[in-house]
Amino acid sequence: MAHSIPLRGTFLTFLSALEQVEADLWIQYAELGGATNQGKSPIDLSQKGQTIATGLAPNYVKALQVLDMDMPQYIVDNTDDEISHHSFLNNYLKSKGASPIDLSQFAVLPPSQVTGVPQHPRLTNLQHLTVDTSWWTRYRSTTNPDFGGGPFENAVPDLAKNPHPAIPITDADLVLNKDGSIPNHLQAIASTAGFHFAFIEVGGTSLYPTLAQHVSNLEVLRVLLSIGGSEIMHFQVWHDKAGNAPNITDGNLTFPVLDGSVDPDNGATGPAVADAFQANLIMPEPTVFLDQNLGPVSIIRPTSSQLNGAVAAVNGFIKDGLFFDPATNSNTGIVAELMSLAQAADAAQRT
Ligand SMILES: [Fe+2]
Ligand SMILES: [Fe+2]
Repeated sequence: MAHSIPLRGTFLTFLSALEQVEADLWIQYAELGGATNQGKSPIDLSQKGQTIATGLAPNYVKALQVLDMDMPQYIVDNTDDEISHHSFLNNYLKSKGASPIDLSQFAVLPPSQVTGVPQHPRLTNLQHLTVDTSWWTRYRSTTNPDFGGGPFENAVPDLAKNPHPAIPITDADLVLNKDGSIPNHLQAIASTAGFHFAFIEVGGTSLYPTLAQHVSNLEVLRVLLSIGGSEIMHFQVWHDKAGNAPNITDGNLTFPVLDGSVDPDNGATGPAVADAFQANLIMPEPTVFLDQNLGPVSIIRPTSSQLNGAVAAVNGFIKDGLFFDPATNSNTGIVAELMSLAQAADAAQRT
């Protein structure tokens, strides 16, 4: 067979590291906004034998449910999936004689101060996010970034301009209006989360097929395609839900009317604008692939190493602000570690 353990380990070690990052951020979402006992199946979220408390901020849950009543259930399920991805990849590495990865030493970021949230430091910061929402128009476009398409406009331009919280930071963020309605600030936090969920999962949606093109061991290929498919399932759900974010303004953050046939980036109108933003157009628009003469085809994009390798994925997370430490006004040490794992993954070539 083609590969020695070190090469096999290169992709999987990087992906395991990234899955640990994903698990860390999803656990924070689940703690605050996850389901408690919704539905018939009991919530049994745990990591390394420790039960994870969920739904600690009921009014945040309420604001998330404006996007869809099932949001809390989906949040805990997505969290469960990421924990399983990281742990499976580590177990697989070990089974092949390679070292598992654990980035816990880089967990230095403060969690939410909301009552009940375990106060141990975290790998990711969800309190200061700059969210790229251009995946929205990328998947509605007939052009493909891998074949000269783009740039793609943001669905929520303000989320890409300034950092905003995607989780309640203190109990004060959770106070409802006197009439019991949800204040715009709390709704903006929940709606930011709604778009951030899709941003995170669209990354995995492209990353797995990109890296799979460099794998020659069939079992490793199977691992990548199988986990990658679950990232696509996550993205599709969140893509659908984000479009339900209500049209509100909180300070410098407006969630626009996406079904209004008005371009939220520049005010343009017309059928092309409607096509680029309509909320329920959640299936991938057929696009250019390989050769224009082959005709448009509905696909995941990008999948080129150039646009979507491991380093690009880490850069996307950095730009998002996931590793920003307010105490030092800079990124945590995890960035250097992830970058070196990503460079090794990108450098590994199919043989
Ligand atoms: Fe994952
Ligand atoms: Fe994921």
